[in-house]
Amino acid sequence: MDIKDLRINGKRLQQSLENMAKIGATPDGGVQRLTLTDEDKAARDLFVQWLKEIDLDVTIDDMGNIFGRRPGTNNDLPPVMSGSHIDSQPKGGRFDGILGVMGPLEVMRTLHENNIETSRPMVIVDWTNEEGSRFAPAMVASGVWAGALERDWVYQRTDINGKRFGDELERIGYKGDVPARKWPVHAYYEYHIEQGPVLEKEGKQIGAPKGILCLHWYDIYLEGEANQVGPTPMEGRHDALCAAAEMILKVNHLPESMGGNMVATVGEIQNYPNSRNIIPDKVHFTVDIRSWDDDHAIKAWENLRNDFETIAHQRGCPIRIEETWRVEHSPFDEKLVQRVLKSADDLGYPGHYMVSGAGHDASYMNQIAPTAMIFVPSIGGRSHVEVENTTWEDCEAGANILLHCLLKSANE
Ligand code: GLV
Ligand code: MN
Ligand code: MN
Repeated sequence: MDIKDLRINGKRLQQSLENMAKIGATPDGGVQRLTLTDEDKAARDLFVQWLKEIDLDVTIDDMGNIFGRRPGTNNDLPPVMSGSHIDSQPKGGRFDGILGVMGPLEVMRTLHENNIETSRPMVIVDWTNEEGSRFAPAMVASGVWAGALERDWVYQRTDINGKRFGDELERIGYKGDVPARKWPVHAYYEYHIEQGPVLEKEGKQIGAPKGILCLHWYDIYLEGEANQVGPTPMEGRHDALCAAAEMILKVNHLPESMGGNMVATVGEIQNYPNSRNIIPDKVHFTVDIRSWDDDHAIKAWENLRNDFETIAHQRGCPIRIEETWRVEHSPFDEKLVQRVLKSADDLGYPGHYMVSGAGHDASYMNQIAPTAMIFVPSIGGRSHVEVENTTWEDCEAGANILLHCLLKSANE
């Protein structure tokens, strides 16, 4: 068979995704598979079983990253790599992350059953904790692997119940012996749903992002003074939740006041003691700022920080700020991006050059290897929600692009 005519099996890809969606399934059609939980473990176990079924050489490193390696005809050459993540958001969707793991698995199965050899080895990967929802920050395991983050710092990160990342990794049995450390990679492709509205609006089936926005995360802690809400007069209160409320609106108005390319969000808040008749004396909330322009995002943060300090002072609520995480914007390898668009053209799928607003392990991979991504449309532009959806036809199209991009890179 001419390799140009090779296609993945769309039905089998659908079945893999449907089987994975049963693990951590939520009543409203989504998935809750938070990192390092029993659900994450169950999905990992199934994934490892599938890797072994097609004779891949499986390695698990000390960040819990799972690699499946398919030898090439010249194993001295750096491999091509593709993967994403098995973990999900709380009440997340059935496609975010897992499509980028089941996609390359389907590619490997297709190569396996057709006895196709490549000159370079091919590696599939599941990166631990891409979401950063249970343990902040996100993308930590690709970050450690790429040498951008410290393993022991990540091990000490705690979830909302005080459980530590390192302990939970050990508990589910995925703390491997091999150190998480980069090796030379010839090309990395990450396959993912778009998670935004652009492809649907443009009527395009394949997206080729030129890169990913920078991601800056902050944690804000406020101290107030608790008291009985009835007898305590309004004047002189130190209400930590009211201080937070003012600050949250500042975050929401930040992109408009700064101009340029930017989004800013408060997505998480804890209020204590969280009783309707006690003035709140402790609040924690998060800030997420993203832009294509790192300096612009930092300038925005400096302005915001000044506003936060003013509000904290006016309300008599001392503030503590943690600058939790920054990943620079990631301009991808233009040759690989163009390869995604060319493959779309060759296979008859309309392609679109764009930008990724969502964060991906591809950000850290881009720091050490030529990297690109393949996007397929998200219905209604919805993601990180239970109704997150992508048609099976689009899932198949994206996996075919992945197949041909990987083949081209693996044979050069
Ligand atoms: C990753 O899911 C992100 O926050 O973009
Ligand atoms: Mn994702
Ligand atoms: Mn996500």
